[in-house]
Amino acid sequence: MTTRLAEPTIPSRRFRTSATPMLFDLSLSENPFPPLPSVVTAVNDTLAQANRYPEFLPEQLPRIIAERLGVRPEQVVVGAGATGVAQQVMRALSGGELVTSTPTFDGYQMLADMTGMTLVPVPLDTAGEQDLTALRRVVNRRTALVVLCRPHNPTGTVLDAGAVRSFLSALPRRVPVLLDEAYVEFLDPADRLDLHALLNRYPNLLVLRTFSKAYGLAGLRIGYCVGRGELIDRIRRQQLPFGIGTAAVAAVRAAYAADDELHDRIQRINQERDALRTVLHTCGIDAYRSHANFLYLPGPGVATALRRAGIKAKSYPDGSARIAVGDPLAGRAVHAALIGLRTTVGR
Ligand SMILES: Cc1ncc(COP(=O)(O)O)c(C=O)c1O
Repeated sequence: MTTRLAEPTIPSRRFRTSATPMLFDLSLSENPFPPLPSVVTAVNDTLAQANRYPEFLPEQLPRIIAERLGVRPEQVVVGAGATGVAQQVMRALSGGELVTSTPTFDGYQMLADMTGMTLVPVPLDTAGEQDLTALRRVVNRRTALVVLCRPHNPTGTVLDAGAVRSFLSALPRRVPVLLDEAYVEFLDPADRLDLHALLNRYPNLLVLRTFSKAYGLAGLRIGYCVGRGELIDRIRRQQLPFGIGTAAVAAVRAAYAADDELHDRIQRINQERDALRTVLHTCGIDAYRSHANFLYLPGPGVATALRRAGIKAKSYPDGSARIAVGDPLAGRAVHAALIGLRTTVGR
């Protein structure tokens, strides 16, 4: 059943005291829709018991997620968003080099600094995709972790499934690979990887996901990682006692029960993204074809033009910008801001 949804609210509408009022905050790839009413009710119901601690070590949430994925509960480690879980992964690996693409999710550099890892950045290729050959080339005996992102932040591009498998097969088994699937729900089902087949074949693989993006629960901080064997056991040992709030369990249960509504929202976000990309193309902004809830708009001058129009975007040193999509009002404002700006940067 398709439920009729209200127009999404603007993710963040506030006014600064400086000359340019900030009308839209599109910098964090948030979901523009507020949580579903059923999720709000479920979370509210937990508040009456907020004098009580949650579980000492989380059991319910891994069980609920494992059931949904068709894996064993001991294969799932949960944490404070994908960021919190990534920190648990990196702590468990204690030092060494983290090989990943650049630009990517800023959290990886911060977490590397916090956990004593050295980030080895490998530039994206000219198509905005992670360069698997170059990534493989820099893996050596100091490598403690490789991070792949699918879809990739900030470009929204998707690594070919066969190329990911070949990459994993070519790596030494002692090197763990974190496959960051923070935006996987925005992918066409045909483009998704077979989680079970991958986990069965590659004991060094960890798959990272979050409820912050498609599920629209960024403020609740819920993420998880799936893996197997000794590797996932090591990561679970980094679990913070009482680290998962009771509200998270209720929210995930309710969100899983609302598949149809969530699916409808994802469709709308994807449609809005593709329509915005098309309209921006007509005014000279050649965005990569994104498979996530954001668009990467190549610079120069894009981030500045958006800022001048009161739109906060994630900006990059060459003037490019990444914007969250899904809110039609914000999309129109982005279009209006960039109409006169012709991007000449070739790809
Ligand atoms: C690729 C990627 N991974 C992980 C995260 C972290 O998400 P969270 O900590 O909100 O679950 C983000 C957030 O933007 C992201 O873009």
